[in-house]
Amino acid sequence: MSLFNVYPLNPIAITKAAGSRVWDDKGQEYLDMYGGHAVISIGHTNPHWVKRIEDQLHAMAFYSNSVIMPIQDQLASAINEVSGKKDFQLFLCNSGAEANENALKLASFHTGRKKIISFKKAFHGRTSLAVAATDNPSIVAPVNETENIIFLPFNDIAALQNCFATQGNEIAAVIIEGIQGVAGIYEASIPFLQAIRKSCDDAGAVYIADSVQCGYGRTGQFFSHDNAGVNADIYSMAKGMGNGFPIGAILIAPHIQAKFGLLGTTFGGNPLACAAALAVIEVIQKENLMAAAAEKGSYLIDALKNIAGVTIVRGRGLMIGFEMETGLEDIRKVLLNDYKVFTGEAKPNVIRLLPSLAITMEDIQLFLNRLNAAIQQLKQTHP
Ligand SMILES: Cc1ncc(COP(=O)(O)O)c(C=O)c1O
Repeated sequence: MSLFNVYPLNPIAITKAAGSRVWDDKGQEYLDMYGGHAVISIGHTNPHWVKRIEDQLHAMAFYSNSVIMPIQDQLASAINEVSGKKDFQLFLCNSGAEANENALKLASFHTGRKKIISFKKAFHGRTSLAVAATDNPSIVAPVNETENIIFLPFNDIAALQNCFATQGNEIAAVIIEGIQGVAGIYEASIPFLQAIRKSCDDAGAVYIADSVQCGYGRTGQFFSHDNAGVNADIYSMAKGMGNGFPIGAILIAPHIQAKFGLLGTTFGGNPLACAAALAVIEVIQKENLMAAAAEKGSYLIDALKNIAGVTIVRGRGLMIGFEMETGLEDIRKVLLNDYKVFTGEAKPNVIRLLPSLAITMEDIQLFLNRLNAAIQQLKQTHP
């Protein structure tokens, strides 16, 4: 039996990790500026996180959602506190796609409507409705195709208002990433998010803030959408939530009411995942990691802007995208192969940085030194 071959792999086997470093099976060390795809929020194998999961494993690994699980209530209270969304309700699931799937379904139940507004280049996951709301036809299977998704241009207030003016009473939800990640780090503007809030209020539609990649403190605020000073009705979360332990969730405004059986999942809210997620919040609070993400992110963004060869830098906090001048497109390969640095990418030419929020200034400096060296190397080989 072999693995179903869907991932183009780097020929590297990572077998050990700590903080912002990972090691391969031959003992080679790498600097992780990719955070395992924005997942590592408090650092690989953070000791508090390891201990919390270990303790939970010894106490009880699993029981079904048919009984009270105090650790779920603890997690809900902790998220209420750290996010500032004090009276929101929590539904726990297992991944980002599942969070968005539930958010969209809940919006449809709540409004009794079918149409969803999504945006050009959006990525919301690979399950049926989440992928239908994703602007990438190559990953939408024929069975996922639906007339219910309306794709509008990103950050275009007039197009949004026009759509609501003509179809407002059919719209169940607007779903938007605060910062589009897979698209290449493009931020939703503050007036655009405010216009979404107003249009949803006027039409009785649900504003869904996909915070799977841009949330959980990565930008310096708990939700990047908070920048606009308005609340969404539903926030979806995953990636950084468990620091690598699979968990996803939606945070739901108080006016959206639950009903027995409306949503459900076997593994969602399992005690191990809750223990991991609680550990993440405890470390974020104890080590002030949101403020650190804002501060270190600004430093990194400013430094990148001053590097010859870097043409464009976008992003906020530790969610950063940059592009290189012509001739330097191979920079990611050189960084990985010759300078042992993992970065992310967005096609065609954006390098994505999504490191742990706990990355040290020394590691940021090390990354900048290696990037400079990689640029010099490329310039010498392709003058
Ligand atoms: C904004 C956004 N939403 C949803 C998802 C899907 O999350 P998952 O891969 O956990 O299903 C992703 C994953 O990259 C994402 O970036």
